[in-house]
Amino acid sequence: MSKSDLPFFDTSDFRYTQPPHPSWTYGEPVSTTEQGQKWAEEAEQGWKTINPSEEDPKLTYRLCTSGIVPRPVAFVSTISGNGIENLAPFSWFSQVSSNPCVISIACTSIQRDKDTAENIKATKGFTVNIISEPWIAQANSCAIDAPPGVSEWALSGLTKEPSVSVKPARVKESAFALECELLQNVEIKNAAGEVTSNLILGTVTRIHIRNAVLNEEKGVVDTAKLRPIGRLSGNSYVKIKDGFQIPQSTWAQDKEEIEEKLKSSL
Ligand SMILES: Cc1cc2nc3c(=O)[nH]c(=O)nc-3n(C[C@H](O)[C@H](O)[C@H](O)COP(=O)(O)O)c2cc1C
Repeated sequence: MSKSDLPFFDTSDFRYTQPPHPSWTYGEPVSTTEQGQKWAEEAEQGWKTINPSEEDPKLTYRLCTSGIVPRPVAFVSTISGNGIENLAPFSWFSQVSSNPCVISIACTSIQRDKDTAENIKATKGFTVNIISEPWIAQANSCAIDAPPGVSEWALSGLTKEPSVSVKPARVKESAFALECELLQNVEIKNAAGEVTSNLILGTVTRIHIRNAVLNEEKGVVDTAKLRPIGRLSGNSYVKIKDGFQIPQSTWAQDKEEIEEKLKSSL
């Protein structure tokens, strides 16, 4: 059940704005803008510091899944050793290398072993499908703890598109999809030596990009067209309705300005 009565508005009008502090110069502290000043003052309220090894893991889970945000979501399609297909979302997900192209997903195994991890260990191939706003309801439905034999594909209403290099299908509705091969599974263990998470590293063997979201000239995916969703804590998702750019400088470009600033702060 949704907690808000506000109707959804999509992000098809995605736009770029100025960054928070367009005129920032080297060495300038946070407190020189109104919002920076407020941010700096809030530090005076102090910190709560916890040692995860001494806390209830549920608290650590809640704190980290709300503090490490927003997370991209890998919508993962796998197939078991018996040929049973599976679909599920995972937000402990990232790209970890581009040469070779490698991604990571982590599946907890605290309450139960996730079919996704078991399937990848058994059959190696999987697909990662990036979710866009128009089909988040369908993707979200696949997080259900469906009994064996019930296909998430069928209940979600999503469409299978055959993969090229791996057995599991990719999701046709996904505008950006990766075919992956298991590179390594790292078992994460708790103090009692029990495996609590499987960190799966997958080598990307194919990348599928819908022409409609591809900026061919720049060789990038257009975020405004991809309209990806991110994960916050609990049942919350986030969408990207605007962005801003901050140029990346080089030492050669800014050397003099930085050295001048450093001299004056001595
Ligand atoms: C948006 C979203 C992100 C999720 N991320 C993760 C995750 O990173 N790791 C995990 O173990 N479970 C995650 N879950 C829960 C799994 O999707 C859920 O347990 C699912 O039933 C696992 O399916 P499986 O057993 O078929 O693999 C997430 C759920 C949602 C809705």
